[in-house]
Amino acid sequence: MYNDNPTLQNVDKKIDLQRQGEILMQDFENKGDKQFYIESYGCQMNFSDSEIVGSILSDVGYSPTRNMEQSDLILINTCSIREKAEDTVRKRLKVFNKVKKDRPGTLVGVLGCMAERLKAKFLDEEKIVDIVIGPDAYRDLPNLIADADDGQKGVNVLLSREETYADISPMRLGSNGISAFISIMRGCDNMCSFCVVPFTRGRERSRDCFSILSEARELFDQGFREVTLLGQNVDSYKWENPETKEEVNFAQLLEMVALIDPLLRIRFSTSHPKDITDEVLYTMAKYKNICNYIHLPVQSGNSRVLKLMNRTYDREWYMKRVDRIYEIIPDCAISSDMIAGFCTETEDEHKDTLSIMKHAKYSMSYMFFYSERPGTLAARKYEDDIPLEVKKKRLAEIIELQQSISLKHNQGDIGKTFEVLIEGNSKRNDQEFKGRNSQNKVIIFPKMDGLKPGDYCMVKVDSATSATLKGNIIKS
Ligand code: SAH
Ligand code: SF4
Ligand code: F3S
Repeated sequence: MYNDNPTLQNVDKKIDLQRQGEILMQDFENKGDKQFYIESYGCQMNFSDSEIVGSILSDVGYSPTRNMEQSDLILINTCSIREKAEDTVRKRLKVFNKVKKDRPGTLVGVLGCMAERLKAKFLDEEKIVDIVIGPDAYRDLPNLIADADDGQKGVNVLLSREETYADISPMRLGSNGISAFISIMRGCDNMCSFCVVPFTRGRERSRDCFSILSEARELFDQGFREVTLLGQNVDSYKWENPETKEEVNFAQLLEMVALIDPLLRIRFSTSHPKDITDEVLYTMAKYKNICNYIHLPVQSGNSRVLKLMNRTYDREWYMKRVDRIYEIIPDCAISSDMIAGFCTETEDEHKDTLSIMKHAKYSMSYMFFYSERPGTLAARKYEDDIPLEVKKKRLAEIIELQQSISLKHNQGDIGKTFEVLIEGNSKRNDQEFKGRNSQNKVIIFPKMDGLKPGDYCMVKVDSATSATLKGNIIKS
């Protein structure tokens, strides 16, 4: 779900959900006097947060624009997950600087994880920035804008134990009108030693289940046909009804969303292998509209490395979880994240990552080399001792293997027929539609009269690459 490394992009698979620095904008009515421009980087949570920010801004008279040169407020929602992600943000700030020179009144605001990590230091490092605001402070944005308009730079990076923005109806900025994200929780309590997220997003908290359900129902009523429930660790969703004291877990939440309408597809991301329960798997198997796709990042296939990473599972345990998924949901697709060259990783340990990939038969993966992040457990305790060339070589091996596994996975679909949700025109040919099957694979097929985005149709696959399936409609 991350994409600051364009060389690793599996283009067709990454469209829509994996947008890099995309300008979030749709054809909104120009309601306000002032305009904001927003770019988002990093994970789906960040894209979802930008939609919350859009809604907060529209309440104070701002409307979104795609045109940075004409905007009164330029925002960048940032990611800190790897060094490269932060480098990209700094490059963009240089571009904004030029715009600001031509339009001195324009304000520049830095949002998200990098804002949280660097806090007020950002203002010293990047003089053009007027506002620095962390992921839990977005309600304060209108105040910071007002201060900045008066010439006062503003920082709010307070993290919260309660904020879930449950009452805010996101402005669906980058949406195709068919698929939408719904944040169900925020923060992360897992202390994976390589990861900056617990520091930038704070403690884990789950959102009121009724607000999730009403958001999903509203989206369905507006014509959306797919929702992705988002959190760093969705399987540890737990919400207690303050009145009845009843607890809702992730499996129960999934079931409630699935019951909204059989035509509403449900996806979710991300699942930490330690938390995904059989109850979740059985719930997925029970409802056809809960998609048979699980993003289950392994990070490493070696137990010693996993221990250093503080992932709290070992190789055998992960493999058993994968086996259980295929046992309960035989046609489930599983994807993963891998980190090459974590501190002290040996060549043999790296090979364990390759072999676990073969065991898990991932349909696709996001693959990275280790990037030390300041303040994390790994940065404090372990030496980042694998030379960059070795990290890159191991990563290249991981990518090559994944490509061959993905190709085999996709070729295995040739001759099969899938129910596809039509998302829109294919990128290359407007006589073709692009959609996805339950397993989250992109399928391209010739259009048929009477069908439109948001409709379902049955498509028989007749060819495949490592990234895409192609086929023909057999019935709508
Ligand atoms: N919450 C999700 C992942 C969040 S970060 C989970 O637990 O799986 C997304 C991915 O970025 C991670 O799965 C990991 O593969 C990668 N990542 C995180 N920190 C990294 C680092 N310091 N260097 C390289 N990759 C990293
Ligand atoms: Fe980071 Fe681990 Fe939390 Fe995922 S579960 S966000 S990798 S600390
Ligand atoms: Fe990046 Fe923050 Fe997401 S660090 S990956 S934007 S939670």
